Amino acid sequence: MADDLEITTGSKVEQYQTLLPQIKALIEGEADLIANLANIAGALKQQFSWLWIGFYLVKKDELVLGPFQGPVACTRIKKGRGVCGTSWAEARTLIVKDVEKFPGHIACSSLSRSEIVVPIIRNHEVVAVLDADSEALDHYDETDQQYLEEVVSWLEM
Ligand code: SME
Repeated sequence: MADDLEITTGSKVEQYQTLLPQIKALIEGEADLIANLANIAGALKQQFSWLWIGFYLVKKDELVLGPFQGPVACTRIKKGRGVCGTSWAEARTLIVKDVEKFPGHIACSSLSRSEIVVPIIRNHEVVAVLDADSEALDHYDETDQQYLEEVVSWLEM
């Protein structure tokens, strides 16, 4: 059984540095992908209280909603559409400081103001994306990118 998460205050870097070893411990003894995606979403939501945090998995020509925490969300996103579909198409992390200024942004929740999407790449192919949404403008930066890219690098997919 998982222990309670240790939640910290402090700088963003300090929060990630306390959280990441706990996420690693949660997922390293578990081979089931969905279980691990679910616990990663839960841990990030508990620590950071973002509006939405979750995963979309590449299935044929679409992203399909996976484990998440937050309000109900769009279930399917085409390649090249929205922030998630663009991150997939371009195989790179996208930091959107103001979602209203991102052409084609898909508003699953009207409360979302800024967003980061991190692709999960295996054998040169994007197999999923991690998506985080905040109610605050300009919430995500290169620190989030660095630590979230590290978290998804641990997933066996
Ligand atoms: N805003 C995303 C859609 C997914 S939700 O934010 C959960 C996008 O533009 O791709």
